[in-house]
Amino acid sequence: MSGRHELVIAGGAPLRGRLRLPGDKSISHRALLFAAMADGQSRITHLADGDDVGRTRHAIARLGVRIRDVPDAAGVAINARGVDALHEPHTVVECGNSGTSMRLLLGLLAGRPFFSVLTGDDSLNRRPMARVTEPLRRMGAQIDGRDGAQFAPLSVRGGGLQGARLELHVASAQVKSALVLAGLQAEGVTEIVEPAASRDHTERMLAAFGAPVQAAGTTVHVERGAPSSFELDVPGDPSSAAFFVVAACITPGSDIVLEEVALNPNRIRYIDVLTRMGADIDVTATGERAGEPVGDIRVRSSELTGTVVAGDEVPAVQDEIPVLAVAAAFADGISEFRDAAELRVKESDRIATMEQELTQLGVGVETQRDALLVRGGHPRTGLLKSHGDHRVAMAAAVAAVALAGETTVRGWQAVGISYPGFVDDLVALGGEVAQ
Ligand code: S3P
Repeated sequence: MSGRHELVIAGGAPLRGRLRLPGDKSISHRALLFAAMADGQSRITHLADGDDVGRTRHAIARLGVRIRDVPDAAGVAINARGVDALHEPHTVVECGNSGTSMRLLLGLLAGRPFFSVLTGDDSLNRRPMARVTEPLRRMGAQIDGRDGAQFAPLSVRGGGLQGARLELHVASAQVKSALVLAGLQAEGVTEIVEPAASRDHTERMLAAFGAPVQAAGTTVHVERGAPSSFELDVPGDPSSAAFFVVAACITPGSDIVLEEVALNPNRIRYIDVLTRMGADIDVTATGERAGEPVGDIRVRSSELTGTVVAGDEVPAVQDEIPVLAVAAAFADGISEFRDAAELRVKESDRIATMEQELTQLGVGVETQRDALLVRGGHPRTGLLKSHGDHRVAMAAAVAAVALAGETTVRGWQAVGISYPGFVDDLVALGGEVAQ
C-alpha cells in the first residue's frame, strides 16, 4: 500500500509529456501463475508492482515455486517444475484485496491433490465466490467455505478433476480463467461458455505458451496440458492508462502520449466510449507480445458530450466505469451506464461509491440496481473518499486534476493495490500535488 493517506491536488494545470505505465495487472497475475505451472525457468519484466500482484507472487512461493528479483526492469526469474511439483502450503494463503489472485488460485488448486485455505481482506471476503466454487465442485474439487462456499475463507482439497461443459451466468474473466486452469489439470475436455466476452488474456497467453487452450467466440476449449516456460516483457496497463487518458481529455490544454500499453481489444473499449463522447485519442499499434497487441495512446483535451454504455460493452469497460463516470461528469448532457450490476460486487460497490463521490462534487447522479446515470455539467472542488477502492481513489484524483483549486482524496493508500506510483507519474505529466 502507498504510505500517503490523503492526497491534495491543485487542479487545473494541463497534462503534457510521455509516460510508460506499470505492467498490466491482469497479464502480471497470469504470467506468475503460468510460470508456476511450467517446467523450467521463466523471466518476466515490468511485472505490475501493486499489492494485488504481490499476493499472487507470495501465493506461488507458498506452493514451493522459486522466485527471485532480477533488479533491472522490474523483473523476476521463476524456477518451477510443473504442477506436480507444487506442494501443500504450510499456512493460509492470504489474497488481501485481490479477487484475481483468489479466483485464479482456486482454479489452480482445484487440480492439486492437497489441502489449501484461501482468505482475503474484508472486501474480498464479501465478494461472490459461488460463481467459481460451484463449477469447480462440478469438475470434482472438494471446496468448502462460508455460507456453502459462497464466500472466503475457502478451503480446497483438489485433484481427480473431470472435464465438463460449463455455462457461466456472468461474463467474468476471473471465473473463466479459474476454470481454464482447472481444465488443464482435468481428464478429458473442458468447455467454458460465457454469456458475453470478458477479457481474454488467459486464452491468448496460454495458447502463445503452447498450452492446449483454444478460444472461439465466447467459448473456450481446454484439454489436459501445461504452458511451457517463457520470457515476457509485460506491456503497460490499459486500465491504469485510463486514468490519465480521461484526465487529459477533461483538462484543457493537455496533450500526452502513453507508451507501450497493452492494446487488447477487450481492454481498450473505453477508448471507443470516450471517442463517442468526442474525445481526441489516437491509438498506434507498434507490436505484439504473448499474443497481445501493444502500442501508444495519444490524448489531447476536447469537449465531451454524454453517452450510453450498456449490454455487451459493459464487461469490456467495467474497470473503467468509475473514471468514465468522471468523464461523464465533465461532459455536456446525461450519460448512462446500464446493465452494470457487476459493479456492485467489485472492490467496493462502485455504483454506490461513485454516486457518493460525484455528488460531493455537485454532480447530479441517479442510481438503479444495475445503473449509474450522470448529469454532466460543472463539477466543483470538494473532499472525496476512496472507500478503500483503488479505482475509486484514482477516479477521484482525475476529477481533482481537472478542477481549478484544491481537491482532497481521503483513503488514498488504496491506490497501492494496483498503482503505487500514480502520484509520481501524475507529477511527471505536470499534475500539481501538495506535499
Ligand atoms: C480481471 C477481470 C475482471 C476485472 C478485474 C481483473 C482479471 O473481473 O474487473 O479487475 O484479471 O481477470 P471479471 O472477473 O468480473 O471479468
